[in-house]
Amino acid sequence: MATLEIINVTKRFGRKVIAADNVSLEVHDKEFLVLLGPSGCGKTTTLRMVAGLEEVTDGNILIDGVDVTDLPPRKRNISMVFQNYAIWPHMTVYENISYALKLKRMEKSEIDRIVHEVADMTKIGELLERIPAQLSGGQQQRVAVARAIAVSPKVFLMDEPLSNLDAKLRVSMRTELKAIHDSAKATTVFVTHDQSEAMSIADRIVIMRHGKITQTGTPEEVYDKGANLFVADFIGTPPTNFFDVELQRNGKGLHLVNSYFDLRLLPENEARLKGYNKDQLTLGVRPENIILVKKSKSILDTTALVVEPQGSHQVIAFRLGEKIIKIVAPALPKMEMGETIHLDFQQESLRFFDPESTLAIGD
Ligand SMILES: Nc1ncnc2c1ncn2[C@@H]1O[C@H](COP(=O)(O)OP(=O)(O)O)[C@@H](O)[C@H]1O
Ligand SMILES: [Mg+2]
Repeated sequence: MATLEIINVTKRFGRKVIAADNVSLEVHDKEFLVLLGPSGCGKTTTLRMVAGLEEVTDGNILIDGVDVTDLPPRKRNISMVFQNYAIWPHMTVYENISYALKLKRMEKSEIDRIVHEVADMTKIGELLERIPAQLSGGQQQRVAVARAIAVSPKVFLMDEPLSNLDAKLRVSMRTELKAIHDSAKATTVFVTHDQSEAMSIADRIVIMRHGKITQTGTPEEVYDKGANLFVADFIGTPPTNFFDVELQRNGKGLHLVNSYFDLRLLPENEARLKGYNKDQLTLGVRPENIILVKKSKSILDTTALVVEPQGSHQVIAFRLGEKIIKIVAPALPKMEMGETIHLDFQQESLRFFDPESTLAIGD
């Protein structure tokens, strides 16, 4: 049982850099929380403050309700796994995992039980007598994870633990980490800059930008209901398509208009924009919500610039003025480059943003 609370935590480096700017978040017991954001946004600094490796400038950190802000790392009951596995090269896998348990003066038989338990969990049971040089990168990272969970930490911290692995291994390891978390049930904070990694393993995602939390939510929430242009752009691949449009009201309702299309909003969407008084907005549409239709139903006719077959689906890109727009369509019928396509927007998933504040409107 463990919770982690970060309360109004700020970290300054010198006078100019604010690496974490009044960050507050709560990680629930056994939760797998992912801290996501572009490089330099303050993820590692935040994690290091939780671990006690970095002093906080301001604010408090609580583990299980106990203020640990001024406690040294070894008194916080946390474990950390880094990008570079940092397992001891001269020790066998068994020795690596058991080292911290020995320091705790645990019984030999108890140590043996734990080592085998975590080795099973991380699928390295066959490798206990090897030294790190005899292991692949993926196996080394499993050892690092096994070593970290062997001490039954209250909070388990991981800083981009998969980024040194090749793409395919990274994808399979993230599934395994999720499964390990499911059996170890440790309260976890996992840092990554990779949105698809975050989406696939998180219970909840905290998105950081410029040292601040910009949105917190489940993967579904941050995907479907991005709180601002940054999140809508950062989450999802291909990213959300954005269109600058003018709101035009005529007798027949509310239209979103630019040089390329005139989209008449359904009443539900019109209602969402009731309180919005400006005449410009940024329309956000996910690639899968721009659909191929018959010419008679289309609001936009254009030409496929590039078609990328992906097996299960195809990505079709087209040009709209300066912009490249991408849509995700079913694999069949297969489109060809240069083919004329007729498009419509699925109205139930449209996103509206105030171009000045960049905030989502009408949620
Ligand atoms: N020890 C340090 N001294 C000065 N600036 C630092 C230090 N560590 C990190 N920073 C700065 O703090 C900001 C956040 O860094 P970091 O937490 O490593 O970001 P992330 O892990 O999200 O890539 C960056 O601008 C980085 O240059
Ligand atoms: Mg980092």
